[in-house]
Amino acid sequence: MKRFLISIVALLSATGALVADEGMWLPSLIGERIKDMQAKGFELTAEDIYSVNQAALKDAVVLFGRGCSGELVSAEGLLLTNHHCGYGQIQYHSSVEHDYLTNGFWAMNRSEELPNPGLTVSFLQRMEDVTARIEAGDTVKEIVAEAEEGGKYSASVESLYYNNKFYLFVYQVYRDVRLVGAPPSSIGKFGGDTDNWMWPRHTGDFSIFRIYADKNNQPADYSPENVPYTPKRHFTISTAGAEEGGFTFVYGFPGTTREYVTSDFVDYTLNHSNPAKIHLRTLRLDIISAAQEKDAATRIMYASKHANIANAWKKWQGESLGLARRKTVEKKQAYEARFEQWATGTEYEGVLGQLHDKYADLLPYAISRDYFLEAVYAIELMGFATPRRINAENVEANYKDYLPTIDRAIAVEMLREFSQNVAPEFTPEWFSAKLAECGSVENFVEWLFSNSRLTSAEALRGAREEGYDFESDPAVAMRKAFDELYKERIEGQYASLNREITELYKTYMRGQMAFEPERSFYPDANLTLRVAYGSVAGYEAADGVYHKPYTTLDGIIEKDNPNIYDYDIPQSLRNIYASKDYGRWGVELNGHYTVPVAFLAKNHTTGGNSGSPILNGRGELLGINFDRTWLSTMSDLDYDPEICRNISVDIRYVLFVIDKVGGASWLLDEMTIK
Ligand code: ARG
Ligand code: GLU
Repeated sequence: MKRFLISIVALLSATGALVADEGMWLPSLIGERIKDMQAKGFELTAEDIYSVNQAALKDAVVLFGRGCSGELVSAEGLLLTNHHCGYGQIQYHSSVEHDYLTNGFWAMNRSEELPNPGLTVSFLQRMEDVTARIEAGDTVKEIVAEAEEGGKYSASVESLYYNNKFYLFVYQVYRDVRLVGAPPSSIGKFGGDTDNWMWPRHTGDFSIFRIYADKNNQPADYSPENVPYTPKRHFTISTAGAEEGGFTFVYGFPGTTREYVTSDFVDYTLNHSNPAKIHLRTLRLDIISAAQEKDAATRIMYASKHANIANAWKKWQGESLGLARRKTVEKKQAYEARFEQWATGTEYEGVLGQLHDKYADLLPYAISRDYFLEAVYAIELMGFATPRRINAENVEANYKDYLPTIDRAIAVEMLREFSQNVAPEFTPEWFSAKLAECGSVENFVEWLFSNSRLTSAEALRGAREEGYDFESDPAVAMRKAFDELYKERIEGQYASLNREITELYKTYMRGQMAFEPERSFYPDANLTLRVAYGSVAGYEAADGVYHKPYTTLDGIIEKDNPNIYDYDIPQSLRNIYASKDYGRWGVELNGHYTVPVAFLAKNHTTGGNSGSPILNGRGELLGINFDRTWLSTMSDLDYDPEICRNISVDIRYVLFVIDKVGGASWLLDEMTIK
């Protein structure tokens, strides 16, 4: 028996079939992975995942808006995504009388579903390798125009493997997408920024939409005449859950990863960019949090801004920790040394040295750019000092959720950091002169905010009535000075150096593939449709601390605290817990009768995968992906199968909330639940 096992292992590793859970694979090439997937528990075929000839699972997956994923769960166009993906729409429909963010929203019939101007969902029709056409001289414009068939589709050509491959992606874009349901934020955003990126997690991060189409099932602008869209395919929902070790896969639109970069890029991220950006955001968050703690109205006013600033801030910290722990820079340096030795005498000789030199050239531009984006343009007043904002019809909207006192305090910190860290050649002369004139950053900011007419709606309206010359406004002058310097001395050089770097990566990428012929190289994420797969798994969070892969309703009750906004669950949920009235959603889990809430798996995911379906081996819906654990955020640069975990909300919790909290069981009737 033992000998048999050894030979199996030897065989599998020899064919490269025993691979880690790393990777985001192109659905049209999933055939190359299918044996490995099947060995791990996938029960379907490559054609079931992606097919140009018949309906496949891909037809039930959408790009939701421009940065999330979603999935179809009924034959009548019903779609699931995350609460944080639908947040803008939920907020758009909320008012003091109808506070859907706080109380949730549940349409009780189709006529109550709410249209969302500007929101689209995109279905991938097909993808196609067009590398040969590009190399033969066809332009991207021609290829796209041909594929769009006079506006019927929307197409783009995307580079993969640093311009070594080009793929055409053809989408059908639906424009009438209505809000159907959302839990209260105390469920959909439970745990807020404290629990964000963390495990154990108890967030019911989902919202429900419906796609509408014209009478021929084609995309149309919003019209009351439109009818629910009939998808080619929708997901069957499994209420069986997945055991620890069970096979899962995630099908969605991951945004950006950089797995094949050199040690210089990682070094820049770890030792320059992340520390600077984290520090700048810490300063901003400290100011906002202090103001929020003093005043309840300010807390609400700045909640969404705080969440946005904190999301990447927290992610970068986790990423830096992970990169340091993994010694990614040193590991890459060792790899590069081996590569260089191997490359001697080949076409790849010297490419690493050239990349290294280009990164050295790029460094000052990259650092200054970080300070422009994260310090200067983080001052909200800079955002108001543009012609579009100055001439806006709805002036009040400009300044909704804005307090100049907070912005002023932030400006002092941001400009102090800028002047201490950015070289004179990247500092506008206008700013240096004014700063010298004022004597200190504090005095400069005092001058700026007391003389600008752009710090409130009233000030702006008053200035307009007076026929004020906005060109002379200090904020406008400042914005102009920084924009000009950025355009003249940073933007162009930064872009052209990056083009040269990409050109070198084209060679280095091919070199890596030749250097490691046994390794499977998946293309970096670029917001195109991908399949990741991995098992349900816990992980060792710290020495002696094992994190189980499931959380339950009991954990929500443990965290429940009426005095802490982010942990103050709806009374209805407390009542349901007290009566144990879980209906068909109750299970025995973690040793008690409860409702499953969230689970971990080893899928390689990133930003953009929010809202993606997580599926079992039969392609049935187990949950909705919404986050990664903090310790795994370095997976955008360096994936570690021991520790990297994606976080999904369990579909049984989603259905439980719709049914028991929302009272919207009519929605369950159109789903295929087994
Ligand atoms: N971390 C998740 C993502 O990257 C969720 C973010 C939204 N939630 C929040 N509390 N900010 O998008
Ligand atoms: N929350 C992320 C998103 O909005 C997914 C988390 C991740 O970065 O993996 O896409």
